[in-house]
Amino acid sequence: LAVARERAARDAASRQALAQTQARLVLAGRMASVGTLAAGVAHEINNPLAFVITNVDAALRRIGAMERRNGAPRTGPWARSHGDGRGPSSELSEVLSLLEDAREGAERVRLIVRDLHSFSRAEEDRRGPVDPRRVLDSCVHMAMNEIRHRARVVRSFQEVPPVEANEPRLAQVFLNLIVNAAQAIPEGLAAQNVIELSTRCDAAAWVVVEVRDTGAGIAPESLERIFEPFYTSKEEGEGLGLGLAICHAIVAALGGRIEVESRRGQGSTFRVVLPAATSAEALAAADAGSGASSELRDGSGLAGAAPQAAPRQRVLIIDDEPLLTRAIAGTLEPRHETTATASARDALTRIRAGERYDAILCDLMMPDMTGMDFYASLAEHAPEQQRRVVFLTGGAFTERSKSFLQRVNARLLLKPFDAATLLSLVDEVVAAP
Ligand SMILES: Nc1ncnc2c1ncn2[C@@H]1O[C@H](COP(=O)(O)OP(=O)(O)OP(=O)(O)O)[C@@H](O)[C@H]1O
Ligand SMILES: [Mg+2]
Repeated sequence: LAVARERAARDAASRQALAQTQARLVLAGRMASVGTLAAGVAHEINNPLAFVITNVDAALRRIGAMERRNGAPRTGPWARSHGDGRGPSSELSEVLSLLEDAREGAERVRLIVRDLHSFSRAEEDRRGPVDPRRVLDSCVHMAMNEIRHRARVVRSFQEVPPVEANEPRLAQVFLNLIVNAAQAIPEGLAAQNVIELSTRCDAAAWVVVEVRDTGAGIAPESLERIFEPFYTSKEEGEGLGLGLAICHAIVAALGGRIEVESRRGQGSTFRVVLPAATSAEALAAADAGSGASSELRDGSGLAGAAPQAAPRQRVLIIDDEPLLTRAIAGTLEPRHETTATASARDALTRIRAGERYDAILCDLMMPDMTGMDFYASLAEHAPEQQRRVVFLTGGAFTERSKSFLQRVNARLLLKPFDAATLLSLVDEVVAAP
């Protein structure tokens, strides 16, 4: 009888393990299709968003200059200017303020799209050894506005080795968990509530990071769904339901796992378990990272200072989206001479006819001739022009474009970008040997 009971228990355990594996596979499948969808949507949005941002930036700069001429200096281009109504320039100030709001809205869209994009980029980022305690600290710092009125932060950090990760990605994971924890606690009782961050090593020498809160907790029926993309219990406009899905994707790509324990009314604990970076592996990864060829930038990067009074350069812009080429030309015009075309074939004809450019901004995906084919044809007709090419992309990479970019070592500018990033990248290409 004892043997039979033991076997029944074993069967039950293996059935449960099987069910868990199945659930994980279903989730993984769904995440993969969301990744594809997200990359496509991000790509479609990034194109128009790129010219919205560049145009608003251009308008802000121009109005800023007009205002300065009118003698009403402002503290900075994006400084808010409510109610400063001073005489002749107050109307300009109002327009400026409207544009600043529009710019802020566009920035929010950019961040949402970047989050969506996280699904498809999770495995591609450079990694190195990262101290999770330092990342947790900086996340707390970033989330302090959300936390302050709701809970005290308690750190229980045990000594842990670094983990092998991409730091901004890891920060995204911890920040999502910390913000969720804060949002689970009502405002006002900060003295009674706690968000506890802890680090330790488990028996298998993996690094364990926990974010525990004394908030609302999660009902058992929701617990099964919280990692699904777009599952949210928050009011419309408050949460997209992407936070935990993104955490799941990032942690899985790092070879780790994420677990949750929660009781309704008592709070929740989210646990991220990651492999430690052994120093040899970390070194190898750092090496592989520095060998990666294409230079990725997004609009959020800090633009390097542009050299003063640089001579005007000839810039060719190739993109099948005329509103975008116009926006780029508008941004570059005060400093450079631009030529815009919607077709890579046309660009090639110009170059074959002897035209030369100091920088060539070229969309990667175009219906007629792709940026890749254009680049390949340059090798035949004007190989020295290849080094002048910067590819523009909304981010949906095909396998072909991915391996192409890795192979050719060309510069890459991710849409949407802001004016400063665009200008400094053009300066960089122009200055390159
Ligand atoms: N610490 C927590 N305490 C209670 N509920 C939580 C906690 N973390 C997550 N949840 C639940 O899981 C849901 C999904 O979380 P997720 O972070 O994926 O999305 P969100 O926070 O609703 O929106 P977003 O993160 O996109 O702004 C939340 O809506 C909430 O119901
Ligand atoms: Mg969230």
